[in-house]
Amino acid sequence: MLELSQASLHRALGDPVLGSIGFLNEVMSRYPAAISFAPGAPHLANLTGFDPSPYIDTYVAHLMDSRGISQTRARQMLVEYGPSRGLINGLVAQALKSDYSIDVPAEAVVITVGAQEAMLLTLRALFGSAGDLLAVASPCFGGIAGAARLLDIGMVPVNDTGQGLDFRQLEMTCRAARARGQRIRAVYVAPDFSNPAGTLLSHDGRLQLLDIAEREDFLLLEDATYGFTAVPGGELPALKTLDRHGRVIYLGTFAKICLPGARVGFAVADQVVRDPAGRRHILADDLALIKTVTTVNTSPLCQAVIGGMLLQHNGSLAALGAARAGIYRRNLALLLDALDRQLGGTGDLREAVTWNRPSGGFFVRLRLPAEANEELLEVSAADYGVLWTPMSLFYLDGSGHDEIRLSCSYLDPGEIAEGVSRLAAFINRLPV
Ligand SMILES: Cc1ncc(COP(=O)(O)O)c(C=O)c1O
Repeated sequence: MLELSQASLHRALGDPVLGSIGFLNEVMSRYPAAISFAPGAPHLANLTGFDPSPYIDTYVAHLMDSRGISQTRARQMLVEYGPSRGLINGLVAQALKSDYSIDVPAEAVVITVGAQEAMLLTLRALFGSAGDLLAVASPCFGGIAGAARLLDIGMVPVNDTGQGLDFRQLEMTCRAARARGQRIRAVYVAPDFSNPAGTLLSHDGRLQLLDIAEREDFLLLEDATYGFTAVPGGELPALKTLDRHGRVIYLGTFAKICLPGARVGFAVADQVVRDPAGRRHILADDLALIKTVTTVNTSPLCQAVIGGMLLQHNGSLAALGAARAGIYRRNLALLLDALDRQLGGTGDLREAVTWNRPSGGFFVRLRLPAEANEELLEVSAADYGVLWTPMSLFYLDGSGHDEIRLSCSYLDPGEIAEGVSRLAAFINRLPV
């Protein structure tokens, strides 16, 4: 049999950034009885036994109404290939306007196979030359880092201070890149409870970041995945809402507010692009064009399910999010309470174990008095029946060695309590 050398394949395939999800799934499959704080997957509440039919019916009725077509034609549209830009763009554009004052035409929205594809299309469109660099938070969501690696896009990490990106370092990074004949083309940022750090960027921080983007001439890729988990009344405006200069490309997903298996997300790219002949179009046209040679179109059936869910919540993304957010706020509060009870207090070990207190999102970042590597994860899984994610998987430079990420999204209250007891038993055995 022909044998291919790994070295002859794309170099991203040997990169730990791409391997991290597979690694965690593999560990979880070997310890099925362990309680896992590893996956950032949405909770299955209300999804077990999920029946898509009523949502599809709602969307079909909407198609008939809004397009003046027969039921047969509307149903046909769901089983054919569809437009690469998507079917439910208008619904999403309306929701963005009424919920978040993001005022863009339906054509500026591209419906994608999850936010992951939105990232891939956006990166492919924006990064045209080898000197263009992507700045990412350190630690950073593996999905964006993996996509950038796959596309051979150079990345520069910028410290996440716990309050957001280190703005001084970001500015210095921009200047240093220019001095080398390169440029920071875009900055990826998840301002609402980032994955993995749980960081929330303040209102003032958002304005500052937009100012820096304007001054240093880069685009912002705003990942809005966890914004829906904010405490009601405490939501901050999206960067895209505050953006006065067209600097922000907004990336969203229905994975956490509807269902992950539908694989529906979107990109909002209303930036004007001028072609060599001086004609103008919008960036979303380019994303849709790239999509014609990647996934062709997002499954119309899946879009119908999501469209129906949106319509059944008065066409509001915020209402959809609110319907799911309670579970995550409850779980996060339970996780933080359990950590306080089991690991709070004084003493050498107690003081060496610290964690942040995000007010939303799925993740808590916890520091250990030991190297949180794969071997330690094995000990935790085999001897204590509890899993977590080594934070080093989220650092481009392999740092973050003494940190772990705890995700509370997938678990039930009893599992969170038991899981933290096990985690405390494990940590209590660590040498200080
Ligand atoms: C920050 C962030 N962005 C995007 C995604 C991916 O979203 P999707 O499932 O829609 O591809 C995730 C999923 O975990 C995430 O944590």
